[in-house]
Amino acid sequence: MKQKDRTVHNGRHSTEIQPYGTVIDRAISLDDRVRSSACEKLNQILADTITLRDMYKKHHWQVTGPTFYQLHLLFDKHFGEQVELVDELAERIQTLGGVAIAMAHDVAETTRIERPPRGRENPNTQLFRLLQAHEQIIAETREAADWAGKAGDQGTNDLLISNVLRTNELQVWFITEQFTAVGVEGRESEEAAEAAGSGHRRGHNH
Ligand SMILES: [Fe+2]
Repeated sequence: MKQKDRTVHNGRHSTEIQPYGTVIDRAISLDDRVRSSACEKLNQILADTITLRDMYKKHHWQVTGPTFYQLHLLFDKHFGEQVELVDELAERIQTLGGVAIAMAHDVAETTRIERPPRGRENPNTQLFRLLQAHEQIIAETREAADWAGKAGDQGTNDLLISNVLRTNELQVWFITEQFTAVGVEGRESEEAAEAAGSGHRRGHNH
């Protein structure tokens, strides 16, 4: 077999480091160029998923306000589900003969998710930030899954659709409901204040 730039052959028998961005042989009947591209796409999604996972823990710790307890619990539940996705993505990369990104400084250099401040943000901002991160991951997951299906890497396609995409879509639903609850409550309070001020009766009550 011809040596290719991004392929390290017999890497598993070598005592040397397998460079990041390379793939070693795997007897899974999948071209090394496909495995290499798949690993590159998976590592981007992995870096973003690790970032979202950590953002959930940050928000779990720092959340405040009247919805503290339900958000505190929900953020940790989603954190746990993202932990599982991180492991599945990383192990898919290794399965394909690649090297999974792992350490915080490497993840920080790779992720496309906007860096949140160290300081504590209010719940609305926390929820908005989570939705943005989810949508980023969902978009790149759909694109990568579509590519993997066409390239013949059905295993990666299945992981991305069945696990990554579905989990993120479901979490967006739950986060959106929290976001809506806080937002609508705020608007309703304003409407109520206006209605009280002008003497108009509100059409409905909650
Ligand atoms: Fe906790």
